[in-house]
Amino acid sequence: MSEITGKTAIVTGASRGIGRAIAVRLAKSGFNIAIVDACPLEMSKDCEDEVKTLGVEAKAYQCNVADFEKVGETVAQIAEDFGGIYILVNNAGITRDTLLLKMTEQNFDDVIAVNLKGTFNFIKHCTPFMMKKREGRVVSISSIVGLEGQAGQVNYSASKAGIIGVTKSCARELASRNITFNAIAPGYVETPMTAVLTDKQKEAIFEMIPLKRYGQPEDIANAVNFLCSADASYITGQVLSVDGGMHM
Ligand code: NAI
Repeated sequence: MSEITGKTAIVTGASRGIGRAIAVRLAKSGFNIAIVDACPLEMSKDCEDEVKTLGVEAKAYQCNVADFEKVGETVAQIAEDFGGIYILVNNAGITRDTLLLKMTEQNFDDVIAVNLKGTFNFIKHCTPFMMKKREGRVVSISSIVGLEGQAGQVNYSASKAGIIGVTKSCARELASRNITFNAIAPGYVETPMTAVLTDKQKEAIFEMIPLKRYGQPEDIANAVNFLCSADASYITGQVLSVDGGMHM
């Protein structure tokens, strides 16, 4: 038996985009996958089926990461269904982009509730299970704009910078329990989230990418897989940029 056989990873926002690629990549490494998404369960079916073809266990759960109580129930159910939790990937995220002048309180609160509080909610409910086993890996998806800021994304960049603060504080608090916390800061990745950008916006971003290609969900998934692997056991509290060299 390999050292990871039978261990379980929770991936939030896993029905599509980067989250789905992460679920598939971790499944290829042998982890069982709990697919969490706010969308109806049917929409997670493709991901669930793809993961199962890789020979591991998979189950989808409908859960809004912003709902503290629902997250608690979902995590307890996952721990019961899979017999524990080894990896948590906080990937679910939303944007409500607009300039500060037009940004409403609701725009700000919605993004903080999903991206930042959602990350807290899952960490809060998953870490007791990790502490019990004295092992765990948490990887949270931040963003280049959490490091640099971005016009039109006051709410989003605040949420992504907040994720870095949560990551570093948790890394310090729970290092003694052998739980690592790291964040990944993607640049521009081609997913449904970025499909809404205009061609002009995409071209402007392309010019800023030294490696001269857009990121793919698999680029982020490979980095998550590394941070969850035995090779990364001495890495905690870090922010890994995966952005073709945009942020240096
Ligand atoms: P996406 O919009 O394609 O997928 C996001 C997934 O999260 C969807 O399946 C959606 O249903 C789910 N989700 C949304 N709100 C939720 C909630 N309240 N509870 C549970 N699930 C929820 O987005 P994409 O591009 O795959 O992004 C994934 C993560 O990567 C996000 O955190 C995003 O902010 C981050 N990111 C993406 C970048 C990009 O260029 N695509 C760049 C930097 C960061």
